[in-house]
Amino acid sequence: MRRTYLHLKQQGDRITGTIRWTLHLYSIDKSTGGPDNFTVSAAMPILGTERRVTYRGRLVGADLQLAEIGADGPGPAMVAHRVPEGEGALPPRIEPPPLHPVRDNGLARTPPMGWNSWNKFANRIDDATVRGIADAMVSSGMRDAGYLYVNIDDTWEGERDAQGNIHPNQKFPDMKALADYVHSKGLKIGIYSSPGPDTCEGYEGSYGHEEQDARTYAAWGIDYLKYDWCGAFTLYKDSEMQAVYQKMGDALLASGRDIVYSLCQYGLVDVWKWGPAVGGNLWRTGTDIRDSWDSVSRIGFSQDRLAPYTRPGHWNDPDMLEVGNGGMTDTEYRTHMSLWSMLAAPLIAGNDVRNMSPAIREILTNREVIAIDQDKAGHQAKRVWQSGQQEIWSRALADGDTAVAVFNRAPQDARIMFRWADAGIPKTPSCIRDLWRHADQEASGPEYSVEVPGHGVVLLRVH
Ligand code: GLA
Repeated sequence: MRRTYLHLKQQGDRITGTIRWTLHLYSIDKSTGGPDNFTVSAAMPILGTERRVTYRGRLVGADLQLAEIGADGPGPAMVAHRVPEGEGALPPRIEPPPLHPVRDNGLARTPPMGWNSWNKFANRIDDATVRGIADAMVSSGMRDAGYLYVNIDDTWEGERDAQGNIHPNQKFPDMKALADYVHSKGLKIGIYSSPGPDTCEGYEGSYGHEEQDARTYAAWGIDYLKYDWCGAFTLYKDSEMQAVYQKMGDALLASGRDIVYSLCQYGLVDVWKWGPAVGGNLWRTGTDIRDSWDSVSRIGFSQDRLAPYTRPGHWNDPDMLEVGNGGMTDTEYRTHMSLWSMLAAPLIAGNDVRNMSPAIREILTNREVIAIDQDKAGHQAKRVWQSGQQEIWSRALADGDTAVAVFNRAPQDARIMFRWADAGIPKTPSCIRDLWRHADQEASGPEYSVEVPGHGVVLLRVH
């Protein structure tokens, strides 16, 4: 599906030019060999780093036989055909609209909960898998624990017809029928697009078709849109992001259907300051999460300064859950789930809920933990105490209780002792509930001490 344009020039014994797909525009800076057998290597700067691709190829008649050379050697054999000069160039730029505040859609009064295809399935998601996931959301108890949205991420998109209407590709034969199926399970369904001409994976974006796509989504019965900057990088400056996101915010409202609006632009240009003004219900606060302790702890423990920006209807999104994807221990997944709940983060599971261990199901559906995440007051926790790799975060809840999370970021187990006053609790609590052990604990004075496993957490609800 991904169309790559190579614009190659032979200059003496060098090959120069560009390689482009979607938001990727690489400039060739190294080459060896000639038309019979060449290797080109090209680079592009993105998000403060350099990405690089290498191709090996040879010219056979008018065709170019090619393979991309990855870390594991050459990829599949491909053939590039000559196209008319200009094909593959970026579409003309559409000026972003003047800014105005978009009306609040009234949705997501607590952080959205659901599932998304990307973390586990990436481009392997299809209609049958989404149906299977919807079934499993019900049978596993995920739906009843609050996970409502079943969200299809990138790679569902097909082509536009002569009227410009977007159609799904062959992996999704009938989007309306799929939405009906998901709805019949008591669930809601989400979809994905980009304000650019292409998505991150090189599929059709909503560029120049915002209102039309919003109407199409509404007609299919879509309840949630994740809108990913991706291909817009090539056409717009960071300073134009707000106006570009506002366009889809307006379009979703105009569609007449309740559609949660999820902004995905990796936390650039202080999105938490303008996300609500474009009609956003949630916004990513950083780059993509990975299924590793390093990624989860780096993202999760750095959200402190954003606490003032989250509130009912408008949430900081540190990215989707990796719980159950296999790269971490159950202890680490418990920390991931606890931290996201303390942060009032959207809880969008990203694992294969059709096959999860009882331990993973128990982590994702722990209702006492979910109740912290979903607390009506919508306050994001703050770090209130830190000593080396030990941290306490606390969060005031709507009923006057306080959620207290005692984290041990070190790899070895630790006994952590703290004073309630340090956790923002002025008096010795009358009731302490351990939300992972589902047990009430004794309070015996102004200090408290807990055993916390390495990379683990003790999560308390204190009265
Ligand atoms: C970006 C997003 C991810 C995912 C992919 C899909 O990287 O941040 O969450 O949606 O695009 O291409």
